[in-house]
Amino acid sequence: MKNQYILAIETSCDETAVAIVKNQRELVTNVVASQIESHKRFGGVVPEIASRHHIEQITVTLEEALTKAELSIDDIEAIAVTEGPGLVGALLVGVNAAKALAFAKQKPLVGVHHIAGHIYANRLEKEFEFPLLSLVVSGGHTELIIMDEHGSFEVIGETRDDAAGEAYDKVARTLKLPYPGGPQIDKLAQQGEVSIDFPRAWLEEDSFDFSFSGLKSAVINKMHNAKQKNEDLPPQDVAASFQASVVDVLSTKTFRAAEAYGVKQVIVAGGVAANSGLRKALEQKFEAVDCELLIPPLHLCTDNAAMIAAAGAVAYQQGHRAGYDLNANPGLNLEMYGRRGS
Ligand code: KG4
Ligand code: ZN
Repeated sequence: MKNQYILAIETSCDETAVAIVKNQRELVTNVVASQIESHKRFGGVVPEIASRHHIEQITVTLEEALTKAELSIDDIEAIAVTEGPGLVGALLVGVNAAKALAFAKQKPLVGVHHIAGHIYANRLEKEFEFPLLSLVVSGGHTELIIMDEHGSFEVIGETRDDAAGEAYDKVARTLKLPYPGGPQIDKLAQQGEVSIDFPRAWLEEDSFDFSFSGLKSAVINKMHNAKQKNEDLPPQDVAASFQASVVDVLSTKTFRAAEAYGVKQVIVAGGVAANSGLRKALEQKFEAVDCELLIPPLHLCTDNAAMIAAAGAVAYQQGHRAGYDLNANPGLNLEMYGRRGS
């Protein structure tokens, strides 16, 4: 049988990424041109700078992906691209590059939801078994999602305010750590003691929703008060205690949801899936139960195009095609995306 290659483009935030996946699940190349250094001095992603970088990087990244794969564009079956959610100016660069390539080479075009991508990153490691539960934890999202079949997404819980990664980045800024703060807090937390009892927002008893803004404020207040009273508050203890609170809520709610929905697999997705505390807590919780826990390797946790190719390959197989009117959709809804065309 002829091999099927899907090329994908991801430019929703601050990484210009192009990847090629073979026969849905085999990663061929995964090129990520990160802009983190350019955004660092501003303490966060500056949308205008992100768009400009994407424009500068997109063609070379595309060429690099094909060269590394030792493939020509003629070998590619379809072009997948992140259509949303994300920064509109950033998304537009990827969407237009994908449309231009699809038009010039007369290839089918497939639009992909960024979060569907984060979930499908796991399928490059292990075949899915349904029903499955996915915990999506990134800079913009904190969601618990049930999938009964490929391409179908039911959001059973989400954050009511800050995303987990956003809370990490904001607390990191208060601790004067460089951007992105998540990995920095993670590292610092490993040297500290959980000595401060920060709040955990459990919300209503049966709720799978999350809330992190109260925790974030509690951390900021604690540091402010300590400074005013000239108290010694070791930053590593603040990091460890903050991380303990986030990880406790994320892992407990994920475990409860997995039990409530009787899922066969639990998959963790998004940048915060790289967190060592979260990985450990989930591994401990799921060790004794008959439910498989999948956490992607670090390079597939943060934004990349391999995940978009993996999700795009399934959407392509299911017959989804985008027209040349495909547009960037910064607020694209995951459940609606899953139901498109059905
Ligand atoms: O998925 P991602 O690369 O981009 C979005 O779609 O948002 O996630 C980025 C987020 C950032 O907030 C970053 O601080 C966080 O993931 N992150 C981490 C870790 N590595 C990345 N948060 C906690 N611990 C980590 N090790
Ligand atoms: Zn992401």
